[in-house]
Order: sequence, then C-alpha cells, then structure tokens
Amino acid sequence: MKNILVIGSSNIDLIAQVERFPQPGETIGNAIYSKMFGGKGANQAVAAVRAGGEVTFVTSVGDDGYASELKEHFKSNGINIKYLRQADNCPTGVALILVDAAGENIIAVAPGANAKLTANLVEETLIESTDIILMQMEIPYQTVREIALLAKKYNTKVMLNPAPARVLDEELMDCVDYLVVNESEANLISGLDIERDGLEVVARKMLEMGSKMIIITLGKDGSYIYSDELRKGVKSYTVTAVDSTAAGDTFCGVLAVGISGGNEITEAVRFASAAAAISVTKLGAQDSIPLAEDIESFIEKNHRVVS
Ligand code: RIB
Repeated sequence: MKNILVIGSSNIDLIAQVERFPQPGETIGNAIYSKMFGGKGANQAVAAVRAGGEVTFVTSVGDDGYASELKEHFKSNGINIKYLRQADNCPTGVALILVDAAGENIIAVAPGANAKLTANLVEETLIESTDIILMQMEIPYQTVREIALLAKKYNTKVMLNPAPARVLDEELMDCVDYLVVNESEANLISGLDIERDGLEVVARKMLEMGSKMIIITLGKDGSYIYSDELRKGVKSYTVTAVDSTAAGDTFCGVLAVGISGGNEITEAVRFASAAAAISVTKLGAQDSIPLAEDIESFIEKNHRVVS
C-alpha cells in the first residue's frame, strides 16, 4: 500500500534567474524567465507519484487558462484529481520566484484559488481509506485543522509540513504523526532556537506539543529524526545547487511514499534526502523532481554511511 492523499496548493511559478538578488528599489535587467508548475501541495503530490505512490490530490485552481494546463499536467503525471476544485471568479495561485546564481530563492505567492480550498471537498471515505495524508500551509489553516481532526477519527496517519511557517495549535499538533520542518519552521513552532537551544531541545518541545514524530531538515547538514523511541541524524548528499525551490516538497512527498510503503523511518528519510538532493541540481519545482529509479541510482552512485 502506498496510498497517499495530498491536500494543498497548486501554483504557476513564474521564475526569474538572476546573478544576484536586487536590492529594494533596484531593477536587474538581464534575468532569464521561465514558467513552470509549482505550489507546495502540487510539488509534494508530484514527488509522491514519481516515487511510486498512488496519489490523490485535492486542490483548488482558478477559472483562468492556467487551470486547464494544471489539470492536464496532473493527469499526465498519473495523479488522481477527482476532487480538484475549480473556483469561480478567481485566479489560479501564482508564485513569483527569483533564483540566484547560488541556487537560493526568494518567493512571493499570490494564493488565488488556494485560499478557497475547504475541508468539505474531501469525502470522509477518502480520509478513511488512505494510508497517509500529506498537508502544507498554502491553504487555509482551518482546512488543514479540520482534515487532521477527521484523520484522527479514522486513524489515518497525518504528515504535516507547516510551510510557509506559522504557529500551530495543540489540538492540531495532537493529530500529527509526522511533523516535517526546516530550521526556521522548527524555531517558530517551538518558540525556541536551534542554534541557541540545540536540536534535541527544540524537537522535544514539538513532540510535547503533540506530534508523534519530528523530522527536522537541515539542508547540507542532513536531517534529524526525533520521537520517544528514536533520536537520529541522517546525513545529506553533497550536490552543486542550481535551484533549491521545492527541495523540501520533494523530501516530504518521497518520505510519505517510504512511510506508507512500510519502510523503516531512517531508510525512508535517507531516500527522501537523496530525492531532495537531486531536485536542487535542476531549475524549477516539479521539473526537478526525480523518479524512483533516478533516486535509486543516485544513492548507488553516492553511497554514504547514514549516521
Ligand atoms: O516550495 C516551493 C513552492 O513554493 C514553489 O513551487 C512555489 O509555488 C511556492 O508555493
């Protein structure tokens, strides 16, 4: 079983590659433009399906020309979009992204139809019959909360990637089985600081808030897994970065497949880290997300010891 329900955003990413980011008030005139598919929810759905998951994606698109492009794209990737909603009088979500020569990005999102994604789009039978639900924070908080509470009722696992970062209430945290956060998300949610307080203290605080397992992604420093039974660092892979957009999304989608496939968590995190590493070597969100066989051969070529 690798039955994954992704509930989240779809965006069109309008990308400008620049040598360096402009200062406020400055114009950089020689950027290279691309238009690609993005949105944290969609990126995670694509990552999960390419890693071998059976993916249903619940999302909300607008009533503009981008909507049909997105629907076609999801279908051609083998994603079930039976529950996709097309909102009236509303644009599809758009992300304006600058990527610099080091592969770092700056993103501004206009959520459009993503802000209209409500929990009633999701049938309870769907929640009951899925192995794991994967959500992020580019849709209304209330939607994430309602779905998480329903998942708890049906004993369905919830993986939450609270990106963009925001404070989470304890009732929601109590429904979360896997909380996947980067350093700044961990700091905001815990109210602590990894540099000052240390990884273990920050992870423990989030565990005490209710999530059953915490996975902190640390970029080139790997990942840290923390639960009542396990405290473990997993090394990352060294690659030359072209664009880090969607590395975290790739990690989450692939991790959900590993967990729902019954893999041991350290192995699942290692596989997800390899997928995320591959994704930063290419431009764009979904264009950079690898297939399962690409991840396997990357691991083979870059054999590393997991700490
Ligand atoms: O996480 C990367 C994504 O964030 C981009 O694809 C963009 O759409 C923004 O939502």
